[in-house]
Amino acid sequence: MNNPYIVEMRNISKKFGNIQALKNVNLELKPGEVLGLVGDNAAGKSTLMKILYGAVIPDQGDIVINGNQMLFRSPADAQQAGIAMVYQDLALFPNLDVAANVYAGREHTNAFLGGLFLNKSRMYNETDELIERLKINIVSSRLLVERMSGGQRQMVAIARAIGFDAKIMIMDEPSAALGVQESGRLLELVTHLRDQGLGIILITHRLTDVLAVGDRVMVLKGGESQGIIDVKTTTLEDLENIIIKGNHSKKETKTVKALM
Ligand SMILES: Nc1ncnc2c1ncn2[C@@H]1O[C@H](COP(=O)(O)OP(=O)(O)OP(=O)(O)O)[C@@H](O)[C@H]1O
Ligand SMILES: [Mg+2]
Repeated sequence: MNNPYIVEMRNISKKFGNIQALKNVNLELKPGEVLGLVGDNAAGKSTLMKILYGAVIPDQGDIVINGNQMLFRSPADAQQAGIAMVYQDLALFPNLDVAANVYAGREHTNAFLGGLFLNKSRMYNETDELIERLKINIVSSRLLVERMSGGQRQMVAIARAIGFDAKIMIMDEPSAALGVQESGRLLELVTHLRDQGLGIILITHRLTDVLAVGDRVMVLKGGESQGIIDVKTTTLEDLENIIIKGNHSKKETKTVKALM
């Protein structure tokens, strides 16, 4: 009865024309853990996460959320199931303030004299609460996003994606454009959200980030999983080797099993 996983992806395959982007991939995520997702360019990382977010439909495979089999036809379906995604390119409105960005597309309104009016004070108050809860380094929900640094914009994008009820957060290369100090802050936020019980999948080419904040790490190579490894039992060198050459110990185990 007690399923320890918040996300299970089973036997996921996806082809784009002749390109086999993913082949029979399995992934499990627990609540309150950070799962690193690493691999070379074109390994299939973004595709796997777009499938979990309903943005790409797999050819084959199952997605199980909290023990329930799901069929995501769009990101809206995935959001409904508590999944948030922060992409490489942040889709923010620079000329609007933080609260307007957090609530874009889902504004609070009041009906008055036959018309609908934005309930701005409620959105500012709630955004300030969200900033507080996420321990984000932004002084006010009234700041214009165009006056913010890349790191602060990243935080706004995360606040927008998570809102008040996401339980699963996917981050695709969140620190790609950030400086040292800002990536440090981002990793602090990841740890903080993990401690609040979110399950987080972190795609990154910065292996040191995965070793710093990850609990487990999954390696993809040429669309195939090389297994999920406990971060405590691995090193930077091991990970680099698996990314480049694949996980031979895992392949051998597979062959042994097949012979039995
Ligand atoms: N919409 C698409 N149409 C056609 N091919 C695609 C599409 N999306 C991904 N691919 C192909 O699928 C493979 C996996 O791509 P994916 O973006 O998942 O890799 P990735 O691991 O995220 O790489 P990177 O680290 O460079 O972001 C690549 O060969 C890519 O060209
Ligand atoms: Mg990618």
